[in-house]
Amino acid sequence: MLSAAASSTPMSLLLLQMLLLLAVASAEPDGRCLTKCGDVEIPYPFGIGHNCSLAEGFSLICNTVGGLKKPFYGNVEVLNISLTMGQVRMLNHISSACYYPNHSFVSPSEWTLNMAPPYRFSDRLNKFTVIGCHTLAYIVSRHDNSSYQSGCVSMCQNKKSLTDGSCSGVGCCQTSIPKNLTYYSVTFDNAFRNQGNWGFGNCSYAVLLEAESFQFHTSYITTNQFMQINSDGWAPVVMDWTIGHETCEVASHNLSSYACISNNSTCIDSSNGPGYLCNCSTGYQGNPYVSNGCRDIDECNQQSNSCSDGANCQNLPGNYSCHCPEGTHGDAYNGTCIPNQKLSLAVKAVIGTSISLTFLLVFGMCICMIYQRRKLIQSRKRYFSEHGGMELREEMRKLGLAFRIFSNKELERAINRVDKISRILGEGGYGIVYKGDIGDRFVAIKKPKVISERKKKEFGKEMLILSQVNHKNIVKLLGCCLDVEVPMLVYEFVPNGNLFDQIHRRIDTLAVRLNIACDSADALAYLHSSASPPIIHGDVKSANILLDENFTAKISDFGFSRLNPKDKEQFATFVQGTHGYLDPEFVRTGKFTEKSDVYSFGVVLLELLTRKKAIYFDENGEETYLASSFILPKKEDRLEEHLDNQGASEEDEQLIERIGELAVQCLSARGEERPTMKDVADQLNNMRKFKQHSWTSSNAEDNQSFHPVTSDAQTSTSNTSCISEVSLRIECAR
Ligand SMILES: *[C@@H]1O[C@H](CO)[C@@H](O)[C@H](O)[C@H]1NC(C)=O
Ligand SMILES: *[C@@H]1O[C@H](CO)[C@@H](O)[C@H](O)[C@H]1NC(C)=O
Ligand SMILES: *[C@@H]1O[C@H](CO)[C@@H](O)[C@H](O)[C@H]1NC(C)=O
Ligand SMILES: *[C@@H]1O[C@H](CO)[C@@H](O)[C@H](O)[C@H]1NC(C)=O
Ligand SMILES: *[C@@H]1O[C@H](CO)[C@@H](O)[C@H](O)[C@H]1NC(C)=O
Ligand SMILES: *[C@@H]1O[C@H](CO)[C@@H](O)[C@H](O)[C@H]1NC(C)=O
Ligand SMILES: *[C@@H]1O[C@H](CO)[C@@H](O)[C@H](O)[C@H]1NC(C)=O
Ligand SMILES: *[C@@H]1O[C@H](CO)[C@@H](O)[C@H](O)[C@H]1NC(C)=O
Ligand SMILES: *[C@@H]1O[C@H](CO)[C@@H](O)[C@H](O)[C@H]1NC(C)=O
Ligand SMILES: *[C@@H]1O[C@H](CO)[C@@H](O)[C@H](O)[C@H]1NC(C)=O
Ligand SMILES: *[C@@H]1O[C@H](CO)[C@@H](O)[C@H](O)[C@H]1NC(C)=O
Ligand SMILES: *[C@@H]1O[C@H](CO)[C@@H](O)[C@H](O)[C@H]1NC(C)=O
Repeated sequence: MLSAAASSTPMSLLLLQMLLLLAVASAEPDGRCLTKCGDVEIPYPFGIGHNCSLAEGFSLICNTVGGLKKPFYGNVEVLNISLTMGQVRMLNHISSACYYPNHSFVSPSEWTLNMAPPYRFSDRLNKFTVIGCHTLAYIVSRHDNSSYQSGCVSMCQNKKSLTDGSCSGVGCCQTSIPKNLTYYSVTFDNAFRNQGNWGFGNCSYAVLLEAESFQFHTSYITTNQFMQINSDGWAPVVMDWTIGHETCEVASHNLSSYACISNNSTCIDSSNGPGYLCNCSTGYQGNPYVSNGCRDIDECNQQSNSCSDGANCQNLPGNYSCHCPEGTHGDAYNGTCIPNQKLSLAVKAVIGTSISLTFLLVFGMCICMIYQRRKLIQSRKRYFSEHGGMELREEMRKLGLAFRIFSNKELERAINRVDKISRILGEGGYGIVYKGDIGDRFVAIKKPKVISERKKKEFGKEMLILSQVNHKNIVKLLGCCLDVEVPMLVYEFVPNGNLFDQIHRRIDTLAVRLNIACDSADALAYLHSSASPPIIHGDVKSANILLDENFTAKISDFGFSRLNPKDKEQFATFVQGTHGYLDPEFVRTGKFTEKSDVYSFGVVLLELLTRKKAIYFDENGEETYLASSFILPKKEDRLEEHLDNQGASEEDEQLIERIGELAVQCLSARGEERPTMKDVADQLNNMRKFKQHSWTSSNAEDNQSFHPVTSDAQTSTSNTSCISEVSLRIECAR
C-alpha cells in the first residue's frame, strides 16, 4: 500500500504502483465512514478504511502521532484536501548534506517519493528548492517514459551577499518542475561540498515544496533552523489528483464509472496529466462526487452579496436576482438604488388638501344645483297648481279644447327663436308683449309684471272661459303658461300693429275706418251678449284694437279677468281703464258695466273720425279730452273742425255725420242712455252695407277693398280740392 519509503527498493515500488492502478471505483461511502481525521476533513472520493473511498488511491489511514490523529497516505502525512482545486497538501521529507570539522562528510539523507496516480506533483505550486553554500542538488524523475533530471546550484560569496526573501542562487536556489511528475528523488553532487570553511553553515538542504509556504532566511544557511520550522524535517508539497485517466468526454459516456454524479456538477479535464475532475456548477457548492452534493449557494445570505446597497436580494436555483425596493430605482446589481422623486410632506399635504377641497367644492356645487333644480321644479309645480292648472287641464280634457298649456321653457325657446330686434311687440306698465315662434306659427306672448291674489286663484277658470271665446274679430287666446309666478298668455300674432299707432299714419279712407269700427263693435257685442258668462272688456281703446294684414280689426287684451264681477268692491280693484277712455259714470259711482265699454268705444269712434288722440294738446297747448272737446264745441257749431272728413263726398259726409251722432250717443253721461253694444254694431253694419252699396253702384274701381294704401291713394288724389270745404254738423242727442 505504501508507495513511498526511504529505504524501499525500485522493485517494491513498482509492485505497489501496480496495486494502485488496479484499484476499482467503489460505491459511495456509507455512514460508517469517517469524514474527519483529527482536524482534517476527508471528503469523498477520499476515505478512511475499506470501501470508503472512490478508489484505492484515495484511501487514507488515520494514525495517532504524538497523541494527535493525523491522516496518512502510506507514510506521507496529508495536511488537507481540496475538492474544488483537485489538490492534496502533503508533507515531503527535506533531504540534507552536512560537512563536519573533523573533515568527515556525512552521507546525505537522500529521499525518494513515488506517487502513483491519481497523484501528480503540482507543477504550478511546487518548486524544487536548494538551500546551502557551494551546493548542487538534483531532482530526478521519470517524465514521458524518459528520465528527467534537473539541478539547482546555490553559491555563497560572503555573508553580506545573502538576502532574506531572495531565493535566486545566492544561498538559495529554486527551480520549476514539469507537468505529469509522479516520481521524485533528490541527490547531492559530491563535487560541491559545503565544507563550512567560510563560516557558513555546515549543512545543505534540498526539497520539492509548496513555493508559497516558503520564504528564505539567511539564518537557514548558518543554522539548522530550516529543518526545525518545517515540522522537524518535513515541508508541504501540493499534489494534483484526478479521477481515472480518461478525459471528461470519454468518462461521461460510462455512467457506471463516471464520478461527477451530483446534480448541477460539471466535469473538468485535468491540466496536469490524464484524468478529470468534478466541480459544482456556478451558483452551487458542495461535493460533486456524491449525489445531490452540489447545493445551491444562497448568495443572498453571503456577507457580501452581489446586490447593491439597499437592494432586495432573491435567491434562485444556481443564481440570484436583485431588485430595487418599492419607491426606488436604479441598478440593483452594480449601482445603487436611488429613491424615486419624492414629494415633500408639505407639497403632498397641499396637493391632498387642494384635491379634497376641489372635490368638496364640486360636490357642494352639485348638491346646490340639484337642490336649486328641485326647488325650481317644485315652485313650478306650486305655481301651476296655484294658478288652477290642474282644474284647467281636467276641463280641457273634458271639453276637448284646442287650448294649450305651455311650459315656461317652451315659451322661452319660442321667444329666443325670434331675432332680438323684432322680439318685443309692446311694453308698458302692465308688462311686456313678446313675439314668439312656436314652430308652426308666430304668437304674441304677454308677460304681465304682477298679478293680484284674486286673479291668481281664478286664473285657470278664466282661461277656460276665455279660451272658448271664438270670434273672427277677437284675438284668439291660444294658450297660457302657468308654471311661473305671473302666468303668461299666448295669443295669435296679429301682424299690423294696433289702431292707435296706425290711425294717424296709413288709415285714411272712410271705408277702412268704418270697417274697423264695425268689426270692433261686432267683437264687443259678441263679448257682451254671446259669450257665457258675459265678458266686459274693461279697457276698450284704440291701442287694444289690432290690425291684421288686411286691416281687419281684432280686439285684444279683453277681459284679462274682466268677467262680470259679483260685487263692486272686488271690481274696483281690477278695473284699470285708460285715462281718456274711462266712463265718467264709473268714476262717479264706481259701477262698471257693459255700458262702460260702450262709452270707451264712443271715444274710439271719435278717434276714427277725427284721427286725434283720446287726450290731445289743443292749439293753446292745453291737455284736452277728445270726448269732452267733441261734445262742447257742438254748442258753438265748431264741430266740423274736429272731424277728419278730408276728401269726403257728400254721401260720406252724411255717413260721417251719422257715425258722429252714434259716437255722441255712446258718450252719454248716463249709462242707460247709451245704446247697447249690439245696437252700435247693428247701426255700424247698416252704414257699412249702405256704403258698400253706394260704392258698388257709383265707384266700381274703388270697390270694397280693405287695402287702404292703394285704394286710399286713389281716393285722396281725386278729391284733394274739396278737403277744406267739407264739414260735418253733428246733432248730439242729449
Ligand atoms: C467492500 O466492498 C466489496 C464489494 O462491494 C465487498 O465485497 C466487501 O465486503 C466490502 N468490504 C467491507 C470491509 O465492507
Ligand atoms: C491546509 O493546511 C495548511 C497547513 O496546515 C493550512 O495552512 C491551510 O489553511 C489548509 N487549507 C485548507 C483549505 O484547509
Ligand atoms: C471549481 O469551481 C470553483 C468555484 O466555481 C472554482 O473556484 C474552481 O477553480 C473550480 N475548479 C476547477 C478545477 O476548475
Ligand atoms: C560546523 O563546523 C564548525 C567548524 O568548522 C563547528 O564549529 C560547528 O559546530 C559545526 N556545526 C555543526 C552543526 O556541526
Ligand atoms: C566527526 O564528527 C562527527 C560529529 O561530530 C562524528 O559523528 C564523526 O564520527 C567524526 N568522524 C570521525 C572520522 O572522527
Ligand atoms: C518506455 O520505456 C520502455 C522501457 O524503458 C520502452 O520499452 C518503451 O518503448 C518506452 N515507450 C516510449 C513511448 O518511449
Ligand atoms: C465502465 O466502467 C466499468 C468500471 O470501471 C467497467 O467495468 C466497464 O467496462 C466500463 N464500460 C465501458 C463501456 O467502458
Ligand atoms: C437531481 O435533482 C432532482 C430534483 O432536484 C432529483 O429529482 C434528481 O433525482 C436529482 N438527480 C440526481 C442524479 O441526483
Ligand atoms: C441543476 O439541476 C437541476 C436538476 O437536474 C436542473 O433542473 C437545473 O437546471 C440545474 N441548474 C443549473 C444551474 O444547471
Ligand atoms: C504522463 O505520464 C505517464 C506515465 O507516468 C504517461 O503514460 C502519460 O502519457 C503522460 N501524459 C502526459 C500528458 O504527459
Ligand atoms: C444569473 O443571473 C444573471 C443576471 O440575471 C445572468 O446574467 C446570469 O447568466 C445567470 N447565471 C446563471 C448560471 O443562470
Ligand atoms: C458593474 O460596474 C462595473 C464598473 O462600473 C462594470 O465594469 C461592470 O460591467 C458592471 N457590471 C454589471 C453587471 O453591470
